[in-house]
Amino acid sequence: MPVLSPRIRHIVTGDDDGWGVQMRAQDMARQGREIILLTMGDHDFPTMKGIREACGAALKTGRTGYGSIQGIVPLRRNIAKRGAAVHGFEVDQDLVVVSMGGQAALFAAAFAALDPGDEAIVIEPYYATYEQTIRAAGGVPVTVKTSTDRRFQPDVETMRAAITPRTRMILCNSPNNPSGVVYTRETLEGIAALCIEHDLWLISDEVYHSQVHDGVHLSPASLPGMRERTFIVDSMSKSHAMTGWRSGWLICPDAQAAACVMDLFLTSAYGVAPFIQLAMRAALAGGKGPEHEIAERYKYRRDRAVEALAASARLKVLPPEAAMYILIDLRHVAQDAERFAYALLDETGVAVMPGDSFGASTAGHIRISLTAPEEKLIEACTLIAGFADNWSET
Ligand SMILES: Cc1ncc(COP(=O)(O)O)c(C=O)c1O
Repeated sequence: MPVLSPRIRHIVTGDDDGWGVQMRAQDMARQGREIILLTMGDHDFPTMKGIREACGAALKTGRTGYGSIQGIVPLRRNIAKRGAAVHGFEVDQDLVVVSMGGQAALFAAAFAALDPGDEAIVIEPYYATYEQTIRAAGGVPVTVKTSTDRRFQPDVETMRAAITPRTRMILCNSPNNPSGVVYTRETLEGIAALCIEHDLWLISDEVYHSQVHDGVHLSPASLPGMRERTFIVDSMSKSHAMTGWRSGWLICPDAQAAACVMDLFLTSAYGVAPFIQLAMRAALAGGKGPEHEIAERYKYRRDRAVEALAASARLKVLPPEAAMYILIDLRHVAQDAERFAYALLDETGVAVMPGDSFGASTAGHIRISLTAPEEKLIEACTLIAGFADNWSET
């Protein structure tokens, strides 16, 4: 029998699949149990009607052939226009490559930056696919810890200590999932200095830039010397409630990188469907209204959820500055956050992510997604607070 390549067999290693609680929750829901699912970052409301209608109109007029691999010009023009305001520099539409979600953009950037065996620095806590994406691209993820005491701001000296002659890139995610922390200018300048000093690529995942509730978003690509070494990952999944559309893009550092990323997409997805691209274009042509509306909704939910969780005498909540999640520190309550999460699910029907899914820095934490209607979310937070106050490990 032929054997599968280790390249594909080793993308997901045995210990890094954090979706067990969600899978059990979905099983329980299928058996008729009422579940409040706060595991995934998937909205509980649909994409705006105008965007859905733009897709419908494109389908009605027969836009069903192959799409442009790089992305249709009017869409890339809108992305570049929006990008100038978001990232703080003039974005060249020719350096934009439209992708199947931010995930495909992350994969393409990692593939572009890494040779087999190259190391990539990943800052904890991190989005759950980062390590796997680096492995899929042939690289070796090297994680760098942060801590609750530093509010999960990375320490540049710790990052420096993780750099070896094999290091080729740093993967940075601000605003951050799962912590909701926005990296300070000082942090980002420190990361930029490391990239320049050691001649590294930076992948800057900015998919939550539209959901900064307190403070401002700063793109590290706008710092001196960084544009030519930064791949920016962006997506409409979170900003426009378009998770299922697979609508994202990569802003490449130069024309050669953009051409190589297109070659990769030529041999994989072969571009995003034209009716999706037309819907994306329509969504961006509508200005910032839709994304502001969504950001405001999450800000409101954040405030109400933090209030409800404060009813617990034992939980420590890190109020997020951004995004659509809350990280809860359980370390005074439970040794094992995963065990706590399974017990919480069984007893209350509330499903949350154990913090270990995002790296060792968030062991002893759980993450909740603010992706349930307000009254359900508050009910879930009240249940979590009550459960934590009564939890005993014995
Ligand atoms: C930090 C981060 N980056 C990238 C993604 C991928 O988003 P998508 O592929 O849906 O655009 C996510 C999704 O949750 C995320 O949290």
